[in-house]
Amino acid sequence: MNICNRKGLEKVFKEYSIDYVVNFAAESHVDRSIEQPEIFLQTNIIGTQMLLDTAKHHWKIQPNDKYCTDYKDGVKFLQISTDEVYGSLIHEGKFAYSASKASADMIVRAYKETYKMPINITRCSNNYGPYQFPEKLIPLMISNCKNSKDLPVYGDGMQIRDWLHVEDHCSAIDTVLHKGENGQIYNIGGDNEKTNIEIVRLIIDKLGKSQDLIKYVKDRLGHDKRYAIDNTKITSGLGWRPSYTFEQGINETIDWYLNNTDWVEDIINGEHKNYYKNMYGEIS
Ligand code: TYD
Repeated sequence: MNICNRKGLEKVFKEYSIDYVVNFAAESHVDRSIEQPEIFLQTNIIGTQMLLDTAKHHWKIQPNDKYCTDYKDGVKFLQISTDEVYGSLIHEGKFAYSASKASADMIVRAYKETYKMPINITRCSNNYGPYQFPEKLIPLMISNCKNSKDLPVYGDGMQIRDWLHVEDHCSAIDTVLHKGENGQIYNIGGDNEKTNIEIVRLIIDKLGKSQDLIKYVKDRLGHDKRYAIDNTKITSGLGWRPSYTFEQGINETIDWYLNNTDWVEDIINGEHKNYYKNMYGEIS
C-alpha cells in the first residue's frame, strides 16, 4: 500500500492494534531522484507526514507538556532515515533524495516537539545483502558480471561508501526500537569504508571474470564523494554491534544472487528494463 493513502492507513490502524510504526517506506535510489524528483517529495515527505498523522490520531496523542501520559502507553514512531542527510564529507552534493529525507526527519522532529509524539530517527550507511533491488551498486554489478555485461563505474570509481549488511541494519533498528531514548537520533554504520572500484573488482574476482568488463561512464550529477558516520551513540550507548564482517557478508550476498537468478531476472525483465535503458543506454 502507498503511504500517501490516508484511507488505507486508517484502515490498517483500525484493524490491528499497533504500538510501533517503523517507517521504511521511501523512494531511495539517488539516480532516480535526479531524473524524477517529484515522487521523492511525494512519498518521502508527504507520505511520512500522513503516517505520522494517522499514528497520532490513533494513539490519541494531544499536545501537552508530558510524554506518554494521556495516550496509549509504550508507542513509538521510528523513522528510517539515511546518512545522506549529512551530505558528502568531501565535495558537497545535494539530491532530491537526501533533501526529501532531511525534510522528513524535520517533520518527524516537529511531531515530537509539537505533539509530544514518542519518536526515534535512525540514519544508516549503505546497505547490502539479499533482495536488494538490482538498481543499486552491488546487485547491479553481480548481475552484470554474471552475464558478462559491462560494469558501469561512475567517474573514476574512487567515491567512498560505508557498507553495512542489511541484517545488521535490522538488528540496529530493533535495538533502537526497544532501547532508544525518546527523541534521539542514532547513526548506524559498519565502520567499513570502501571505494566503489574496490567493490567492483572484488565481485569480478569472486566470479572469476575479466577486469576488462569495467566500463568507466559519465559521472553521476553532483556525485557525493564520501559518506562515513560515527556510530558511537548506538554502540556505546545501546550496546549494538554489527555481526557480519564485510568479507563474510559480501561472499554470502554474491552467492545469494547467483542462487536466486529467477528473482533477479523477474525484476530485470520488468519495469527495471526501461530504467536501465534510460540510465545506461549507451553500454552493452
Ligand atoms: P548506490 O548503490 O546507488 O547507493 P548511494 O547512491 O545511495 O550511495 O551507489 C553506490 C555508489 O556506487 C555511488 O557512489 C554510485 C556508484 N555507482 C556506480 O559507480 N555505478 C552504478 O551503476 C551504480 C548504480 C552506482
